[in-house]
Amino acid sequence: MSFFLIKTHKNVLNKIKLPEFDTKKNMYFYPMRIDIITTLPELMESPFSASILKRAIDKELVEVHSHQLREYSNRRHKQVDDYQFGGGAGMVMTIEPISRCIEGLKSERDYDEIIYMTPDGKTFNQGIANQLSTRKNIIILCGHYKGVDQRVRDVYITKEISIGDYVLSGGELAASIVCDAVIRLLPGVLGDETSALTDSFQDDLLAPPVYTRPADWNGHKVPEILLSGHNQKIEEWRHDQALKRTEELRPDLLEGTEDK
Ligand code: 6GU
Repeated sequence: MSFFLIKTHKNVLNKIKLPEFDTKKNMYFYPMRIDIITTLPELMESPFSASILKRAIDKELVEVHSHQLREYSNRRHKQVDDYQFGGGAGMVMTIEPISRCIEGLKSERDYDEIIYMTPDGKTFNQGIANQLSTRKNIIILCGHYKGVDQRVRDVYITKEISIGDYVLSGGELAASIVCDAVIRLLPGVLGDETSALTDSFQDDLLAPPVYTRPADWNGHKVPEILLSGHNQKIEEWRHDQALKRTEELRPDLLEGTEDK
């Protein structure tokens, strides 16, 4: 990556990262940037410190930045929540710190998506992961308590995502899951370029069973066809198995093509 100093319209010197030109693909390469707004940035560390996500960051295929929401609070004890109007149990995340944080980020670059992690969002799936993997800059806001003031959702949020019908104590773990599903799809992240395409769900089917050595384990044998060396027959068998598994375990996948 090259760094250049340029003058912005505000007449402020800014460090701008210029994209590299990929001569093989004849196109510019932009790393994706994910900004996570959270009161628990430490919770977001470990998923990005190991394995595929760490490698993606090390290879500069993606940048992930966590922002401690409390740092944007002007209140004495850095609170970011308050009682609900109308009464009722549970606190609500206030507008000001969130607004300050989002406005700060937006003044530095354009964002394609500002996502709010919330149990009443749209249920995350492979289609949404695929869509997000094509975006350049995204913000993810992690919800807590009873959630954020509705006006944050009305004014800033472009997408609301849940990871399933159960309640977590905050949006952080859900955000990590979304990041994992998205980052592994970015070009160059997975060693074998085809492996993301053969995942379960990419074709609305579950993956077929897989086997490795030994071919015979205490009398439990690997299906003969896999040892035959007949590639076309093997692919047909795998597709058959995938269909069978899907019909048996997830018939709902064969009905709709939501979000694909
Ligand atoms: Cl995104 N947040 C919380 N708090 N709970 C959830 C969720 C998100 N998705 C499923 N449950």
